[in-house]
Amino acid sequence: MSQYQSVKGTRDIFPEEAAQWNYVETIVHKLAALYGFREIRIPIFEYTELFQRGIGSTTDIVGKEMFSFQPDPKGRSITLRPEMTAGVMRAALQKNLFSLAPVHKLFYIGELFRKERPQAGRQRQFSQFGAELLGVSSPAAVAEVITLMMQVFKSLGLNGLKLRINTLGDSEDRLRFREALQAWFAPFHDILDEASKERLEKNPLRILDSKNPAMQELVSGAPRLYDYLKESSLQDFKKVLFYLEERGIAYEIDHRLVRGLDYYCHTAFEVTSSELGAQDAIGGGGRYDALARELGNSADVPASGFAVGIERLLITMEKQGLLAAIPSDAPVVYLVVQQQDLADHGMQIAWQLREAGIKTEIDLAGRSMKAQMREANRINAAYALFLGATEYETGHYSLKNLVTSEQTTLTLEAIVQFLREQRLQQCGN
Ligand code: HAM
Repeated sequence: MSQYQSVKGTRDIFPEEAAQWNYVETIVHKLAALYGFREIRIPIFEYTELFQRGIGSTTDIVGKEMFSFQPDPKGRSITLRPEMTAGVMRAALQKNLFSLAPVHKLFYIGELFRKERPQAGRQRQFSQFGAELLGVSSPAAVAEVITLMMQVFKSLGLNGLKLRINTLGDSEDRLRFREALQAWFAPFHDILDEASKERLEKNPLRILDSKNPAMQELVSGAPRLYDYLKESSLQDFKKVLFYLEERGIAYEIDHRLVRGLDYYCHTAFEVTSSELGAQDAIGGGGRYDALARELGNSADVPASGFAVGIERLLITMEKQGLLAAIPSDAPVVYLVVQQQDLADHGMQIAWQLREAGIKTEIDLAGRSMKAQMREANRINAAYALFLGATEYETGHYSLKNLVTSEQTTLTLEAIVQFLREQRLQQCGN
């Protein structure tokens, strides 16, 4: 055993689990392509100011959760990305993408880092897939990203997820609401916790997102942003809801949903799973028209997007019994060599089968036949193919189905043909 353990809040993904990740990622790639989103890969770290400006300095992420470091004494501070949206927008602006075309639809899969207290479903290194629709500001665009996210959940067979949605209005709406909130919280100043006192000055909306139960109780009586919306903001939100209804996507309006990042305007949403316990958010997103300007661009770049936590998604899939249905990556054939002097011939056959596209395993350690059979069963091979003296002389090999124990004797060519047909049947095409 090594004297080292993995760092708190990180985990290893071994092959069986990696097969589940690959399955989810394949679905994400397929559905993103279906909706016209193309993949972007951005660096794991960025200059710290990008996140301070982009996510907001009064948020928990920026205030407490970033892994930041200074690569050299005079260098600028760098931070491991705690989310993707700011980096994707930075990349799009840096590359001047909007001079090429007004609209860009991008998706990503990658690792994120937040210095949170680890617990079930909450890690310090975790993964997300997500999509960002840049360059268009319309309820249709928001509905598009929500629909893509919900279709991924549906394709994976998930049930019972709850989509909560809210509107944060535009900057004028929020300014009016901010004043109303400050006035409302003022008489309670003495009972506010330290973080909320600070937020009352800088960003009172953040108080609504407090995790402190005492603050949450207080917040339940606070005014609603919904009541401070101008007519056009209200219509914008209603149009998003209209699209969701048209598509049969159930939602619940949650007037207290503000989300943990400051860049949102108009629609914000979150999907929760009752199977997840305390950390019940599986994904979230919204519209963020002002992020580009916040990052120094001369104009707003209207945008919306979402991100889903892959660990939480897989936990929910496991709770709903969906992981068993994921196609296995077990080999089709385990080649059992009955005599050591045939080992080289066995290697040759294994090579021929692999050349023919049949997933094949063979013992490389000169183990006994019994040990080889045990291994074939352990790794869930579908068939065992036996190589003994008779097979070597006649060129006819015994193929045993390891589930039904049925056995047939065929030439190698016929075996390849047979296994290909079996696979075709299994795939249903
Ligand atoms: P977020 O709500 O901060 O949004 O994160 C999205 C999802 O990432 C969460 O719902 C959760 O499933 C997962 N997640 C977050 N923190 C952790 C953690 N410590 N451990 C495990 N999973 C975690 C964003 O990141 C935004 N960038 C979403 C977005 C995209 N908005 C617009 N475009």
